[in-house]
Amino acid sequence: MNALIIYVSIHHGNTGKVAKAIAEILNAKLVNPWEIKSEELLKYDLIGFGSGIYYWKHHRALFKLIGNLPEMRGKKAFIFSTAGINIPFINHRKLRSALGKKGFEIVGEFSCRGWDTNGWLEKIGGINKGHPNEKDLENARRFVEKLKSMI
Ligand SMILES: Cc1cc2nc3c(=O)[nH]c(=O)nc-3n(C[C@H](O)[C@H](O)[C@H](O)COP(=O)(O)O)c2cc1C
Repeated sequence: MNALIIYVSIHHGNTGKVAKAIAEILNAKLVNPWEIKSEELLKYDLIGFGSGIYYWKHHRALFKLIGNLPEMRGKKAFIFSTAGINIPFINHRKLRSALGKKGFEIVGEFSCRGWDTNGWLEKIGGINKGHPNEKDLENARRFVEKLKSMI
């Protein structure tokens, strides 16, 4: 399977840790959205899109790339994130919708907590310090193992 992972990780590198862990399992190419041309996505069987959650949604660079894509009907995708408050039902909503509009088939979603020192949280050392931890990364690996066996 030819897999690609597109991610943004700007706060503490939290999502980058998850992206690397799952890329190893999938043997996937790992890129930032600004490093790849939209037509290049056509050659992959499975594409993962992930970032930290910034004001209740994924990073805008992911939306910019997706906005420039041609119709991707039936192309398999998954979503992942790390967040201060891990509520994927809400945090993934906008990305889920953007991918759906382009015709992607979303085959799975993964999220975990990430160290968050945004704004006043910095004064108390942040929340979720140490996350993603090894257990979070193990859950991420298990998530993609399962995807691999389904596809
Ligand atoms: C500018 C900013 C906005 C954020 N907004 C949210 C948010 O709306 N909800 C949330 O749960 N976490 C929020 N966070 C916390 C990040 O989602 C969390 O720290 C994440 O793990 C960062 O991932 P990264 O290190 O890969 O960038 C925010 C962090 C920053 C810096």
